[in-house]
Amino acid sequence: MKYFIETWGCQMNDHDSEKLSGLLAREGHEPAASLAEAELVLLNTCSIREKAVHKVYSQLGHLREEKELRPLMIGVTGCLAQQDQETIFKRAPQVDFVLGTMAIQNLPHLVSEVQAGRRHVLDTGEYPDHHLFPPEVTVRKPMAKALVTIIEGCNHACTYCVVPTTRGAERHRPFEDVVEEVQGLVGRGYKEVELLGQNVNSFSGGCSFAELLDRVADVNGLEWIRFTTSHPMNFTRELAQVLASNPKIAPFLHLPVQSGSDRVLRRMCREYTTEQYLERLGFLGDARERLCLSTDFIVGFPGETDEDFEGTLRILDTVAYDTSFSFVYSPRPGTPALRLQDDIPMTVKAERLARLQARQTELTWQSHRRQVGLTLKARIESQGATDSGHWMARTGQWRNVHLRVPEGIHPPFGELVDVRIVDAGPHFLRGELA
Ligand code: 5AD
Ligand code: SF4
Repeated sequence: MKYFIETWGCQMNDHDSEKLSGLLAREGHEPAASLAEAELVLLNTCSIREKAVHKVYSQLGHLREEKELRPLMIGVTGCLAQQDQETIFKRAPQVDFVLGTMAIQNLPHLVSEVQAGRRHVLDTGEYPDHHLFPPEVTVRKPMAKALVTIIEGCNHACTYCVVPTTRGAERHRPFEDVVEEVQGLVGRGYKEVELLGQNVNSFSGGCSFAELLDRVADVNGLEWIRFTTSHPMNFTRELAQVLASNPKIAPFLHLPVQSGSDRVLRRMCREYTTEQYLERLGFLGDARERLCLSTDFIVGFPGETDEDFEGTLRILDTVAYDTSFSFVYSPRPGTPALRLQDDIPMTVKAERLARLQARQTELTWQSHRRQVGLTLKARIESQGATDSGHWMARTGQWRNVHLRVPEGIHPPFGELVDVRIVDAGPHFLRGELA
């Protein structure tokens, strides 16, 4: 069959889609160029916020119409599959199978069950060894950077978060497996890896996360290592030390703070106060200046007062994050925060979000302006719109550079080049080949 996988959500889902694609290819199925040509459509879904769920059900509505016109097998996987399970068949009977996040290796079995005439096949089991995915099966996008799972699941219990339900408890890959996969990837031409997990820094697959970073950095030919995402309480001095001293670790740290109010943090069950968060950031010492520091914020958590929100604006300024992602609180099924009254009017939530984002834009722009005049390594990612005369590149700090290149010159895709930063806007840098 020709298959098409549509992916929503985070890098964990992007990478799962690469694994799912590999499983289908191994069975002789072929990727379709577009959804219209596909005989099997797999929706790899996200359920972190309500909006993500709406998108999936609306796409399922569209697929129902397609299925009335031609034979089409429809599968749902990812976080919504794990969360809604059989409910998906009730809401969308056109779905043929539902595959949970912890059972992805059973995809070929589900497909053949449907081919054999079974309807509404479901597997949302928790298989203890499915995180040991055979690396040779994965079909990755042809890019310089490869995604590599090191840990799955999450043992924290933030009261707003659906992930402990949708991704289960932590399962750690043995570090030897991780290093071997990275060696294989570099052997096949990849230059950069992004180590993935809901909470990478609680890794304990035979060594600490800090040790794992050093071991992966020892792989010859690897240029940069990235990782996402981290919990502040698992951010250790040892990790800060490796970040500060190992030049192969790209200078970027995403450390979600969520709120700048101790009262809200307590209600979120984040396990730290703002003071403890700042103390941990302090482990970085002078290395802070070298890093692009990023975070996540939730505004409008139940009971968040104006004063609580001022605390969030304060921590944004205190840390002066270089970039951040911010969201309006979205009540999620099965989470402890559902017991708290979602009492803040949408207009107030939207206003808080807008204020936070406006201040972040100023800080990001300031941070971009500090790059002007520097010569930085950046990886060539793509050619800009044909008439724009610029190329897109990405620095170690994960900043976008619009690169002006003399006519007739084609910078090498996927390679690191030296770039002189000549100008900065709030959303990207402008540069020239140095
Ligand atoms: N509502 C809004 N944002 C959420 N996040 C997680 N759960 C929710 C929710 N229920 C945000 C957090 C997290 C990021 C991945 O998504 O900020 O760090
Ligand atoms: Fe990723 Fe979380 Fe969304 Fe699942 S719910 S796709 S883990 S962001």
